[in-house]
Amino acid sequence: MSKDRYWRAISIDSISPECFPNVALYLRSGGNYVLYKDPDRMFTIEDHLRLERSRTEFLYVRSGDMDILNEFMENNLTEMLARNDLSSTAKGRILYQTSVNCVIDMFESPETAANLLRCRNMVQHIMQHVATDSHALESLKTVISHNFYIFAHAVQVAALSLLVHEKLFELAPDEMVDVGIGSLIHDYGMTFISSDVLEKNDALSGIEYYIVKQHTQKGYEYLKRCGNYSGVVLNIVRYHHERYDGNGYPTGLKGGDIPRSGQVTAICDVYSALIMDRAHRKARSHADAIKVMREDSKNGAFNPDLFEHFVAIINERQPA
Ligand SMILES: [Fe+2]
Repeated sequence: MSKDRYWRAISIDSISPECFPNVALYLRSGGNYVLYKDPDRMFTIEDHLRLERSRTEFLYVRSGDMDILNEFMENNLTEMLARNDLSSTAKGRILYQTSVNCVIDMFESPETAANLLRCRNMVQHIMQHVATDSHALESLKTVISHNFYIFAHAVQVAALSLLVHEKLFELAPDEMVDVGIGSLIHDYGMTFISSDVLEKNDALSGIEYYIVKQHTQKGYEYLKRCGNYSGVVLNIVRYHHERYDGNGYPTGLKGGDIPRSGQVTAICDVYSALIMDRAHRKARSHADAIKVMREDSKNGAFNPDLFEHFVAIINERQPA
């Protein structure tokens, strides 16, 4: 793997001036990482404005410093989200950046109880944010660099799925948290798939597609063996690529036999993938994404009633 693995991209919008821990920040320039701020200097509003003027979207942190950053961000999240001087967009970006960092650690070590606990807390923050802030979904699109697509996508699917579950179903608080955790790690099985296949920009061959499809079952089996994930979490991981007409994978379950959390995640997963920029194609607009999905739904991809409820919920959250 490239040296990029030693660096984590941090969206400058998620760096709140005067509220950032003592870690060094770097700029990426021509493939090299150049010190921008040493650990002792504060990140100020002037830094923010300067970076904005130069259209810098990301600064970088050494991955060895991520523990300090994560601890700081997670400990201060409640306070940051309650601040009156931060815009809704800034809060969203802080929340999603912090959640993505947490998901990265979950993917590295899902069997660690401390990571699961962090993830639970994060889900509660996401849940509250999407329930109370009507702009919560807007800030999801651009926050994370492409290298971290899979994690940004996971946070987006979690936010969407929590919103849908909150609007349509009456779940006990613990079950809602499990929906959030399952959504955050729904693609955990991708860690078993070779990066040559995952990072390929061209169309996948038949055998490569077969390999990628194994992520659902492999993720499910591994997390089940970990022993600390509920049935709801495991259902989401296993069934998020089932189709309502029975032509999905890994089991080919059909209609109402597909656990409901799997049906919801399937819809949120496709929507999120369509509205995010990818290395090989640009993001679609909300309207375009819905158009494509409605066609898929008519062809048997999704539970049609659930899909229309999803559309109604997401339409309501679109900017006027
Ligand atoms: Fe998946």
